[in-house]
Amino acid sequence: MYIGLLHLHSALRYVVVLLLIVAIIKAFTGWFGGKTYTESDRKLALFTMISVHLQLVIGLVLYFVSPVVKGALADMGAAMQNTELRFWAVEHISTNIIGIILITIGYSTAKRASIDKAKFMRTAIFYLIGFVLIMSAIPWPWSRVARGWF
Ligand code: HEM
Repeated sequence: MYIGLLHLHSALRYVVVLLLIVAIIKAFTGWFGGKTYTESDRKLALFTMISVHLQLVIGLVLYFVSPVVKGALADMGAAMQNTELRFWAVEHISTNIIGIILITIGYSTAKRASIDKAKFMRTAIFYLIGFVLIMSAIPWPWSRVARGWF
């Protein structure tokens, strides 16, 4: 189960990154272009939020079955001194959860706004900050905690 979930979680990152990029570009162009907020804008923001929530659920399961995290949690003192173990036990989960919370706030506050410009603006700002946080917490092949592309 662990390996299967790890691959699913790893592959889903591309869906998350792609949806976030499209949703952010559409939100900014809608905001600065004075466009009408349509049902397809809302659906795009919704599917993007669902994709990060799915990552959260898979990530939470992984957190409790991962041998890497288990090893780190067994000795947190030592794990905090180790770049890789600290990343998996603390940094990856906390940074991503903050990013996911911001995206959720962006979706729900945009939904409640009555003016189209405000809907686009809230989506643009919250999704952009969430995106930056999530991108910074992905173990890209060039990062200090490098993992493969898939
Ligand atoms: C949108 C948010 C997230 C993205 C894009 C993301 C991405 C990734 C990627 C690319 C990997 C490496 C997969 C591999 O080695 O093949 C990974 C591993 C992992 N992620 Fe996430 N993740 C996200 C959120 C979370 C959250 C919220 C949690 C915890 C609640 C979490 C827990 C884990 C764990 C435990 C591992 C595996 C560590 C291991 O055993 O090697 N992730 N994640």
